Amino acid sequence: MSKIISVANQKGGVGKTTTIINLTTALAMSGYKTLVVDIDPQSNTTSGFGMKSESMSNTIYELLIGKKPARDCIEKTDIEKLFMIRSTINLVGIEIEIVGMNKREFILMQRLEEIRNDFDFIFIDCPPSLSLITLNALVASDSVLIPVQCEYYALEGLTLLLNTIKMIKNKLKPSLEIEGYLLTMFDSRLRLSNQVAAEMSRFFHDKVFNTRIMRNVKISESPSFGKPVVIYDPFSVGAKNYTELAHEFLKNNGKEIIHKFDNILTYEPPNFEIVNKPVPENNINEIK
Ligand SMILES: Nc1ncnc2c1ncn2[C@@H]1O[C@H](COP(=O)(O)OP(=O)(O)O)[C@@H](O)[C@H]1O
Ligand SMILES: [Mg+2]
Repeated sequence: MSKIISVANQKGGVGKTTTIINLTTALAMSGYKTLVVDIDPQSNTTSGFGMKSESMSNTIYELLIGKKPARDCIEKTDIEKLFMIRSTINLVGIEIEIVGMNKREFILMQRLEEIRNDFDFIFIDCPPSLSLITLNALVASDSVLIPVQCEYYALEGLTLLLNTIKMIKNKLKPSLEIEGYLLTMFDSRLRLSNQVAAEMSRFFHDKVFNTRIMRNVKISESPSFGKPVVIYDPFSVGAKNYTELAHEFLKNNGKEIIHKFDNILTYEPPNFEIVNKPVPENNINEIK
């Protein structure tokens, strides 16, 4: 049976989507059949894989309202062993549609039931809120991976998130666990990054992943090319960090790396269509 993991933090811009895209790609490349479920109406994960989200009739929206079974919503990505259920902007109104439904917090869990055995891992990308949709994701999950951006107020919203998780454990899903806290956009030159890291270990001990995701411009460039950074620039620090994270994640879950791709040159990259979209402006300092 697959393990279902939500990537959640109600703060926006902390690296949830980036983590989902790259961790799942690295897991698929390591030999594990993985499904990504995008439940954020912004559909950044969907577009990050170079997939469109408009005018589709087999998205997470149809799945949640019960119009399509999960099996019909699963699509292949360009990466072998990696599959996805797309999101769509239509999802913005979903809360109103499901709020009156019976067992409304369990809808996603029930809908994913029939495909649970088809994958090794299922990852759910949550929207930046603690809405009914996020509750559905957490209730459907075995564990939650929490990205924490190494920034001012990094820990501020965590109490709220942890209280929500506690409530879910008490009332809705006792077996929900914390997969781990992931430090993102880490910059070892900054005292602030190091302070956030120290605070995180002080509070959460070994639940903090040893792997830290550095701030890296290749990571922020890659979505505009519709590619995960591990494929867009396999030699970048970002690619290296996410590969390490996948290996740490597998180890924590008692799994072997079936297909070792440490040496990225041995991996045959999928044949991506070259899109010449301009790279978005950003003021991020590249490390490397
Ligand atoms: N390690 C990183 N280095 C540089 N930019 C990053 C990094 N992680 C994420 N970003 C960028 O920060 C922005 C927010 O990240 P995203 O993953 O979309 O966050 P969330 O899903 O939590 O809202 C995106 O533009 C993304 O490309
Ligand atoms: Mg996101």
